[in-house]
Amino acid sequence: MKAPLKDTGSITVVRSRSKLNYLILVLAALIGACSIYYSNIIANQLKEREREQVELFAKTLETIANESGDFNNNVMLLFEEIVVANETIPVIVTQKDGAPKIHKNVRIPKGLTQAETTIFLKEQVEKMRNLYPPIVIANKSDDGEVFNYEYIFYQNSMLLTQLQYFPYVQLSVIAIFFVVSYLAFSYSRTAEQNRVWVGLAKETAHQLGTPLSSLMAWLEYLKSDPDLENREITRELGKDIKKLELITNRFSSIGSVPVLQEEDIFQVIRNSVNYLQTRISSKVAINLHFEGERVTAEINKPLFDWVIENLCKNAVDAMSGSGVIDIYVQRTVEGKVIVDIADSGKGIPKNLLTQIFQPGFTTKKRGWGLGLTLVKRIVEHYHKGKIFIKSSELNAGTTFRIILNGSASLTTSKAG
Ligand SMILES: Nc1ncnc2c1ncn2[C@@H]1O[C@H](COP(=O)(O)OP(=O)(O)O)[C@@H](O)[C@H]1O
Ligand SMILES: [Mg+2]
Repeated sequence: MKAPLKDTGSITVVRSRSKLNYLILVLAALIGACSIYYSNIIANQLKEREREQVELFAKTLETIANESGDFNNNVMLLFEEIVVANETIPVIVTQKDGAPKIHKNVRIPKGLTQAETTIFLKEQVEKMRNLYPPIVIANKSDDGEVFNYEYIFYQNSMLLTQLQYFPYVQLSVIAIFFVVSYLAFSYSRTAEQNRVWVGLAKETAHQLGTPLSSLMAWLEYLKSDPDLENREITRELGKDIKKLELITNRFSSIGSVPVLQEEDIFQVIRNSVNYLQTRISSKVAINLHFEGERVTAEINKPLFDWVIENLCKNAVDAMSGSGVIDIYVQRTVEGKVIVDIADSGKGIPKNLLTQIFQPGFTTKKRGWGLGLTLVKRIVEHYHKGKIFIKSSELNAGTTFRIILNGSASLTTSKAG
């Protein structure tokens, strides 16, 4: 790959844009990770505190249960402070056999019968068991002997649950916001690009139009003179005017909604190649391959010519002046038309494959980097077709593939 001299500007723009995208992505991931990490720390602290609270709750119940008969004031205070004050953490106290005994902060659906409530509570106990191991309350007799067990099951408070989900909700909302704004932004950018293409092309066609019709009138004048009619200057002038007409035609087609007409694709490509062959190095051979059946598609001829010309010129550049270009035309079973343009040039490095269609991307000293952008626009925007690199191998060659929607009528007559 030659280092771009004149066009350093355009190539760096494209490169740095994708670098910037990476940077933004990395930064966004970092912010997301930090916010999840930080709220995880807080959630863990809260989890710790809730566990302590439930343990305290258990201790209180244990104390109350083991306080023989008369509750003294201290125990009552403890009960008030800890058991009644817990208004956030759902807890269920069960007996040794798992039967629910007391519950607090568990939301029980309305209208359940006593038996249904017990079943519901048992289900909740199972859920809680999967979350945290239960805390055991030992019931002791006066001489300190344990004669019974009870269990306290608990789960996260609403607060803790919300805190755990909050960063994800927050990040999703932000992500959605960014995706929507990105789409809106790129939509408006595409619309803007369209206006520039159309406006510039129309203006060019318009500006060329006036001198062109004047030139045509002058040519007619020259031809009307019997002395000049058959001179070389008249013939050459005629050819150049034809070429100017073609260029004007292309620009005016880009600048308006182009008319698509059913054309014999092979014929169109052959004409285009015949024209090109005289203008490129004689060491480049362009071979046409064709299955023999007439293949037609709805195209705009001036624009399609432009596509073939651009692709062939790029191929010639890639072969630095000598090699072979093979063009294959075929029809798929679904009726689509495939045009492959294969060269024996230097190939495209893998890391550039996604960039070559971008406006301004070039690796040539005197390149504008607009050829493939235009080609893509003509094929995809005006013909609703597809263009992509079918294959490319370094120092072996590149194949571009165009897929056109074939015309509805299938003709089978042999091409001449
Ligand atoms: N057939 C090909 N083989 C190798 N590289 C290619 C080929 N066609 C295009 N490219 C690469 O894509 C770049 C962009 O092409 P293009 O948009 O036509 O702009 P330009 O021809 O002005 O450089 C070229 O500079 C070249 O690096
Ligand atoms: Mg080019």
